[in-house]
Amino acid sequence: MYETLSKRLGKKLWEQRQSIESSKKHLEKNRILAAPPPVHPYSIIKYILRATGLIYPARRQFRAPILEHNSFQIPGLPAQLNGFTILHLTDLHIELEHTLSPIIVKGIKDLAYDLCVITGDIQHAYNAADKAINLLKPILMAINRPVYAVPGNHDSTELIAKLEVEGLPFLLNEHIPINHKGMNFHLCGIDDPIYFRTHDVKKARQGLSSKETTLLLSHAATTAEEANAADYTLQLSGHTHGGQLCLPWGIPILKGATPRQRVKGTWNHQRLLGYTSRGIGASHIPARLFCPPEITLHTLLKKS
Ligand SMILES: [Fe+2]
Repeated sequence: MYETLSKRLGKKLWEQRQSIESSKKHLEKNRILAAPPPVHPYSIIKYILRATGLIYPARRQFRAPILEHNSFQIPGLPAQLNGFTILHLTDLHIELEHTLSPIIVKGIKDLAYDLCVITGDIQHAYNAADKAINLLKPILMAINRPVYAVPGNHDSTELIAKLEVEGLPFLLNEHIPINHKGMNFHLCGIDDPIYFRTHDVKKARQGLSSKETTLLLSHAATTAEEANAADYTLQLSGHTHGGQLCLPWGIPILKGATPRQRVKGTWNHQRLLGYTSRGIGASHIPARLFCPPEITLHTLLKKS
């Protein structure tokens, strides 16, 4: 099962992933993800939410995803691809809260789209692959068009390998042609650029000309500079959760390494057009404040 993955990722990046996954530091990180100790920033935030009563609106917001509609105006988009629609899910952290799976199914089951993409963090704790897969299965069944994924910083090799067997293909520094009305565009995807750092933006579109329409799936918008330099047309990302627990007007308290203008919604970096989804799930605490979860429909439009 892992042999094919190691070949696709290449010896160097495969060994890098394996060395991280077997390290003492990683096992400790997983222990914290699976059950944060009482004195830990995540546990303290939870206490504060409970003590202030904010936990109730925050839990309600977590359970109420918003359907966001975004359109990209793309110069030179082939006429056949005008109107092509992509369902974008990201940051499910699906086993963190088992009630999320039916909420996602309800949110996507009646949507119309041409392609579905998942930009990582399917699971939360690294050793929870089987539990995550069981909760993901009904969601995969509700997706009625082709679906592809890339890993996030929470996704283990075990999860990737087992989900591919279940029929969810991953793009690991690879690309695949997507044919629509007789016209191809190229869906490219990279391994996680944040924790494992086993991504290779250039390799993911190797062999394609700079004139081709290329969509990069990257867990984090931090790869925008590389993607722009490699001539990608679009990038779809997640990772930030839009801040997840925000101040009024959605101002993120913590933003991590992602530049502020790419924390959520549409952005561009020179010629590259991009979008960062707030994600459908939550990290560490199944709660959100001033930052509702989202299911996103992107429409590609020809810029006249
Ligand atoms: Fe995430």
